[in-house]
Amino acid sequence: MGLLVLAGFGGAAVLWLIPDQAALSPSGMLDYPPEQVAAGEVLYRSGVANAPACVTCHVLDPQSSGLGPSLLGIYQTAGTRVPGLTAADYIRESIVNPNAFIASGYSANYMYQNYGAVLHPDQVEALVAYVLTLPETGSP
Ligand code: HEC
Repeated sequence: MGLLVLAGFGGAAVLWLIPDQAALSPSGMLDYPPEQVAAGEVLYRSGVANAPACVTCHVLDPQSSGLGPSLLGIYQTAGTRVPGLTAADYIRESIVNPNAFIASGYSANYMYQNYGAVLHPDQVEALVAYVLTLPETGSP
């Protein structure tokens, strides 16, 4: 497992921006390196090891809903959820410690709880990048 992580994320990881340093693009989205966003999309859609894919609960179609809240367009509000947490901080915390803050209208413990243990920190950052670049109109 360690070797797989290194093979997949070594090297590229040092080039990635940590999310708080990413610049705002004209649309107001954080402007992440495309390869970091692409790595996050793979994880989001496919999951890793025994951890479920995010898309099973957070669907990418604005017309349907899943077990979890839609993350489409969340870049606009993530930085307002918890005082003192930037948008990236909030998404990161939501992944590695889902019960720290419960989204309005939802309950604790429905989200898979062990991403913090099964994901490499670079994988978490890739997911943060992907989630914060999801347009409100959905992702094909
Ligand atoms: C088994 C279903 C499930 C899976 C899988 C899941 N989530 Fe969640 N998620 C939830 C539920 C339910 C909530 C709302 C309760 C809460 O805030 O913890 C939530 C909340 C969130 C929030 C906060 C949303 C908001 O509006 O504030 C984020 C961000 C998030 N999840 C990201 C992810 C990411 C990224 C993954 C994949 C690594 C993932 N989730 C996998 C069910 C899931």
